[in-house]
Amino acid sequence: MEKLVILSFVFALFISGAKSVTFTFTNKCTYTVWAGTLNNADKPQLAQTGFQLDTGASQTVDAPAGWGGRMWGRTLCTTDASGKFSCVTGDCGAQVSCNGAGGATPATLVEFTLGTGGNQDFYDTSLVDGFNLPMSITPQGGTGDCRGSGCPANVNAICPSELRVTAPDGSTAACKSACAAFGTQEYCCTGVSNDPNICKPTNYSMIFKNACPDAYSYAYNDGSSTFTCTGANYLLTFCPS
Ligand SMILES: *[C@@H]1O[C@H](CO)[C@@H](O)[C@H](O)[C@H]1NC(C)=O
Repeated sequence: MEKLVILSFVFALFISGAKSVTFTFTNKCTYTVWAGTLNNADKPQLAQTGFQLDTGASQTVDAPAGWGGRMWGRTLCTTDASGKFSCVTGDCGAQVSCNGAGGATPATLVEFTLGTGGNQDFYDTSLVDGFNLPMSITPQGGTGDCRGSGCPANVNAICPSELRVTAPDGSTAACKSACAAFGTQEYCCTGVSNDPNICKPTNYSMIFKNACPDAYSYAYNDGSSTFTCTGANYLLTFCPS
């Protein structure tokens, strides 16, 4: 009997180690969002790499233990007269599925490295490549620190004009990083600035950091932006507040 209990315990551990993680995407924006997913180069592609989410809609996507990659939202997508699908922000090619293509910058990114065998997941929100829409990460269940993260603020509303990406109606569709806008070594942490001791926050990265303290705002951001949790599923919300 005792042997059976131990055996089932070991089996349960094995199952939990191999367990997949469910991401639930929810769109609370007043506009339609097209979600995108991209695996890291050494990880498998998820079953869904892009899908439409109307206001109020949700969709789940499963990822295997050990998966790593990113998710983002595409906005202001339309199909033109010739049938070509394209988005003003976060675009990944002329179709709804991204199929291994990343989102065009600027785009708010959430990034995951999932644990295996009961090890912790790492997750963060990155504005290093700019911002296009508010997004949050909410762990569901799990053990450990498991804090919510993300960039719930609308950075577009406070984007300086020199970083702005304008929507067809003249509103601000996205906000570029200073690196993307100016390409200097200081803003991109490249060349002589390719050193965490040299590349420091700038007046531009501070706009992003002040609006969204949980998110990375430039390449060598402080360690305060990576979060961990073990054994959770994750709710990913567009426009959480
Ligand atoms: C940031 O600093 C640069 C260089 O000092 C300056 O040209 C720019 O106007 C500043 N931008 C903001 C938004 O403060």
